[in-house]
Amino acid sequence: MLTIHKLVKRFKQTVAVDHLDVRIEEGEVFGLLGPNGAGKSTLIQMITGLLPLDSGSIKLDGVSIQERAYETKKHIGLVPQDIAIYEQINARKNVEFFAKLYGLSGKLLKERVDEALERVGLTDRQHHLPSTFSGGMKRRLNIACAIAHKPKLIIMDEPTVGIDPHSRNHILESVKQLNQDGSTIIYTSHYMEEVSAIATRIGIMNEGRLIALGTEEELRQRIVNQERLWIETEEEISSEDHGAIAELKASAIVDEIRAEGHSMELLLSPQFDRLQDILFILAKNGLSVRTLRRETPNLEHLFLSLTGRQLRDG
Ligand SMILES: Nc1ncnc2c1ncn2[C@@H]1O[C@H](COP(=O)(O)OP(=O)(O)OP(=O)(O)O)[C@@H](O)[C@H]1O
Ligand SMILES: [Mg+2]
Repeated sequence: MLTIHKLVKRFKQTVAVDHLDVRIEEGEVFGLLGPNGAGKSTLIQMITGLLPLDSGSIKLDGVSIQERAYETKKHIGLVPQDIAIYEQINARKNVEFFAKLYGLSGKLLKERVDEALERVGLTDRQHHLPSTFSGGMKRRLNIACAIAHKPKLIIMDEPTVGIDPHSRNHILESVKQLNQDGSTIIYTSHYMEEVSAIATRIGIMNEGRLIALGTEEELRQRIVNQERLWIETEEEISSEDHGAIAELKASAIVDEIRAEGHSMELLLSPQFDRLQDILFILAKNGLSVRTLRRETPNLEHLFLSLTGRQLRDG
């Protein structure tokens, strides 16, 4: 449906989008995951024709977005990162305003506006001014404005940042519904749990490039061998050449060990099988375990291992 080829966008010294290639297929919920400044919004602004591209191409069903902006734009609905609604007209009139821009009128306009308000759960509040709304309700209204014309591609740029859990769940639920009703969706976020809950395919973006792409399962395969174990011991592990560490390092079950004070962190190897083997080595070397935590890797770990950075600050 959407084909992006060698797309580049620079802002002076910054390469915000760097020779990016990706194809989004019809019916997907494509989760675009990336930290601050990764280039997600810049990419989206180019897809929606809000920002000119430096080089490369973007095609919607084979039609160039650059060359035929008017024709392609009506098939796209954008929920921008910064909320764009009119505070001084009621919620319904906001949705009507955007739907009219896309050429809807009369009975169809009314129907589509009803449907969009219903979809985001604002039917009851449609005659109220957005200035009386919570952040989450404004965000939902912004979504209604983007979907009333029933675009085949809906792009949401971090629609859940800074909103209450109720609105957040509502938004995630409406993404699934919109997709079931036939829209293809691109959804950007810093939150791997969200993307993981709704996306059929995930792209991880960093410094203008897609550094990983696949289903969650495929991405997990890449880190499946990186299970971690944290162990806190009663005794202090005075040095890295403690007998237990030397023995664990020599065994095939641990790839890496870091130890300090009373704790150690183990990166388990694919050969790891039984926790018992590790506990046995510790006991044999005079260490008793106080606490133990085992962590299955997630997409944040994949991001960390690919970039050396956290997906989110803090
Ligand atoms: N209008 C602009 N002028 C100059 N630099 C810009 C402009 N817009 C974006 N940038 C730079 O381009 C890079 C990518 O920014 P972008 O907003 O696309 O990232 P993002 O992934 O959307 O981040 P966030 O998660 O914070 O929204 C950043 O280094 C940013 O500072
Ligand atoms: Mg952004």
